[in-house]
Amino acid sequence: MSEKNIEESGKLKEEEKKEEEIIPFIRGDTLDLIPRNMDHIHLYFKWINDQDVRVFSRNEAPTTKEDIKKWFERPSHEGTPEHIGFELYHKQDKRVIGNGGLSRIDYVVRKANIWMVIGEKDYWGKGLATEAAKLILEYAFKEVNLNKVYAGIFEPNVGSWSCAEKVGFTLEGKIKKEIYVNGKYHDIKKYAYFQDDWLKK
Ligand SMILES: CC(C)(COP(=O)(O)OP(=O)(O)OC[C@H]1O[C@@H](n2cnc3c(N)ncnc32)[C@H](O)[C@@H]1OP(=O)(O)O)[C@@H](O)C(=O)NCCC(=O)NCCS
Repeated sequence: MSEKNIEESGKLKEEEKKEEEIIPFIRGDTLDLIPRNMDHIHLYFKWINDQDVRVFSRNEAPTTKEDIKKWFERPSHEGTPEHIGFELYHKQDKRVIGNGGLSRIDYVVRKANIWMVIGEKDYWGKGLATEAAKLILEYAFKEVNLNKVYAGIFEPNVGSWSCAEKVGFTLEGKIKKEIYVNGKYHDIKKYAYFQDDWLKK
């Protein structure tokens, strides 16, 4: 075997190994929701500090790789997790393109906040956040048995609230001047989805 062939077969094995680590936790059409993976910290690091991606997520201060590593140090299966996060894996392109999940999970009131980031910007506007939101809602209502899933979305984040409305979230109200972006205050739109409405669909 030539040196080039050895190098290529090494690369192939490496790719196969990476693919083996892609475990679909929830299967979708274009996307699978997969467990978060420490090997993808470089992606989180890129997305969380990207000006276009972070603008409406209120990540005003830079996040370091060390900060992100600490997310993984928190025990995720001790008791009932307050936060459940997934990576969004594009099946055809074999690429992790973002993340999303449930945060502030309250098991007494049975409610949680839904969150989502499509970090790879060339995947915006292709209906992928809509698909991922539906998968997360299905999981929230049918596996975690939540009664209410809510989202707070800043008014100028048209992509995000269009996606929420398309999926079927109801606007509960607006809170005035909740965010300061690009030199202006903006309102936040509060959306909710109830389990009964999801199950009736
Ligand atoms: C907001 C975000 C999740 C939307 O993801 P996406 O995959 O582009 O959304 P979708 O393609 O599913 O779009 C849903 C709807 O919103 C519309 N839309 C998406 N982006 C839009 C934009 N910038 N302006 C106007 N409409 C937009 C789409 O046209 C689509 O409606 P349609 O099917 O009727 O055409 C993505 O842009 C993102 O991750 N942004 C950065 C992080 C962020 O802001 N997260 C949300 C915090 S609340």
